[in-house]
Amino acid sequence: MPNRVAVVTGASRGIGKQLCIDLAEAGYDIVVAARSSADSPGKLPGSIEETAELVRAHGRQAMTVVLDVRDEEAVAALAERVYREWGRCDLLVNNAAIAVPGATLEQPTKRWRLAVDVNLNGAFYMMYYFCPRMAAAGGGRVVNISSIAAVTPEFGRVSYTVTKRALEALTEAMASELTGRVAVNCIRLELAVWSEGFTSTLPGEDFSDFEDPVVMSDATLWLAQQPLEYTGHILTVGELRERGLVRGVTRFGDRTG
Ligand SMILES: NC(=O)c1ccc[n+]([C@@H]2O[C@H](COP(=O)([O-])OP(=O)(O)OC[C@H]3O[C@@H](n4cnc5c(N)ncnc54)[C@H](OP(=O)(O)O)[C@@H]3O)[C@@H](O)[C@H]2O)c1
Repeated sequence: MPNRVAVVTGASRGIGKQLCIDLAEAGYDIVVAARSSADSPGKLPGSIEETAELVRAHGRQAMTVVLDVRDEEAVAALAERVYREWGRCDLLVNNAAIAVPGATLEQPTKRWRLAVDVNLNGAFYMMYYFCPRMAAAGGGRVVNISSIAAVTPEFGRVSYTVTKRALEALTEAMASELTGRVAVNCIRLELAVWSEGFTSTLPGEDFSDFEDPVVMSDATLWLAQQPLEYTGHILTVGELRERGLVRGVTRFGDRTG
C-alpha cells in the first residue's frame, strides 16, 4: 500500500503538473487526474501520462485517471478506485479550472454553466466523495486553488470571479462542517504564474517575468503539513512568502529544465 497519497485534479499541465512533480519529490504517491490523455489529447500540450512519467522519475507511484470533474459519477468512481487500490487519500488538491473569457451577456448561457460546473461543482463533487473517506481513515487535507479574481471583478471574467469566490466560500463552509476531521484550506493565487493554459490566453505577451509554478507547490506543501485544526483559511502566495513559507520571487524565464 502506498505511503502517502495525493489526488490532484487538472494534472495534465500547468500548475497541476508541477504540483504532482513536487508532491512526488516530497514523498507522495500521486493520482494524476485530468481529461487530456495519450488516447484523447487536449488542444494544449500535456497529458496525464506525461505527468505520471515525471512522478515515477521521482521514485513514486502514479495512478493515471481520465477525469472530467463535471462528471459526478466519474468522480464517485475515482474515489472508490483510489480507496480500493491504494486505500487512502491524504491530500486532495482541487486545481482544475477554466476561465471563460469575454463579455458574459454576449455568450450563450451554457458558457456560464461550464464555468460553474468545472470550477465549483467539480471541486464540490471531489470533496463530497473524498472527504467522508478521508475522515473515516483518520483525517486528511484539502487544498482548493482560487484566484485573486475572486475579489477583483474585471470585464470579461464574471463567471471566473463568481466561481472562484464561491470556491472560497465552499472552503470556509466545508471547513466548519469537517472540523477536526478534514482540514480544508484555499490558496488565492494573486500572481501571474506561467502555465500552458494561462499563457495561451495572452498571445504575443512576454512571459519571462511570470512566476514559476513551483511557488504553488511550496504553498500547497506547507498547508499539507499543518495540523488538522488549521482549517478554513484563504491565503495568498504573497502572505506565505512574507512568512518565509514560499520561496522568494521566481521568474519562469530563469528555468533551466
Ligand atoms: N496561472 C495563473 O497565473 C493562475 C492565477 C490564478 C489562479 N490560477 C488557478 O490555478 C489553477 C491552475 O491553473 P493553470 O494556470 O495551471 O491552468 P491550465 O494550464 O489551463 O491548467 C488547467 C488544468 O485544469 C484541467 N481541467 C480543465 N477543465 C477540466 C475538467 N472539466 N475536468 C478535469 N480537469 C480539467 C486541465 O486539464 P485537461 O484539459 O487535460 O482536462 C489542466 O490540467 C486553476 O485553478 C486556476 O484558476 C492560475
